[in-house]
Amino acid sequence: MRIVLVGPPGAGKGTQASFIASHLGVPKISTGDIFRANISQGTPLGVKAKEYLDAGQLVPDELTIDIVRDRLSQPDAVAGFLLDGFPRNVAQAEELDEILADNGVTPSSGKAYLDVVLDLEVDNDEVIKRISGRRLCRNDSGHIFHVDYSPSRDGAVCDICGGELYQRSDDAEGVVRTRLEVYAAETAPIIDYYREQGVLTTIDATGEVDVITGRAFAAVDAAR
Ligand code: AP5
Ligand code: ZN
Repeated sequence: MRIVLVGPPGAGKGTQASFIASHLGVPKISTGDIFRANISQGTPLGVKAKEYLDAGQLVPDELTIDIVRDRLSQPDAVAGFLLDGFPRNVAQAEELDEILADNGVTPSSGKAYLDVVLDLEVDNDEVIKRISGRRLCRNDSGHIFHVDYSPSRDGAVCDICGGELYQRSDDAEGVVRTRLEVYAAETAPIIDYYREQGVLTTIDATGEVDVITGRAFAAVDAAR
């Protein structure tokens, strides 16, 4: 199954992505995680991407699209995948369709190369609360905590693997506001793009994490 998660920063994409990917038995591919791993390793890509992440701006398409093209060509992604954080604008959405066409995917109902695009809906006040309290594990980007909503036992290390918890540099309030503006101006238009393809499902992403996971499973199961 080929699925894309979309939603504003802090909507809970990363939190839900691992559950949905395991449920479907497909790899989770997060462009944000790929950029952060390259930044922490100091690769040439990481050096170029860092200034954009720190400013809350999108990394240029010419750097982003080739990464996704390479990743989707790997054997584990041929039968399906979950993309978190890509596409991020209409040009990337069009490129994704081209990549899938090049990989031999046949569009359903004439034009949809994806099975479902899950839009996680949450308002800006909730986003600010979620992001300001977020803590991440240095060992595994899927180990996500929140100081109030899902605290780790001692607040400093990950309950799952013992890794050090840290706060993302782009989670500073000023940068979060820029990310929300960029989302509204550049990313929100892909919602119409996928609505027109007939693959968009919007779910209410407020409430308990496991309740939202249940809504997400119901949405993806309905599209299978
Ligand atoms: P990216 O890493 O994709 O970040 P984002 O889209 O801004 O999303 P976040 O990771 O901030 O939030 P999330 O929705 O995953 O929320 P989470 O589950 O962590 O992108 C970062 C940057 O990389 C971009 O700004 C850009 O520079 C670059 N980039 C990435 N992809 C790109 C692309 N395709 N093109 C160009 N540039 C690109 O949850 C947030 C918090 O809330 C956590 O603390 C969590 O514990 C908590 N929480 C989750 N669910 C709930 C709940 N139900 N109730 C209460 N708390 C909850
Ligand atoms: Zn961990």
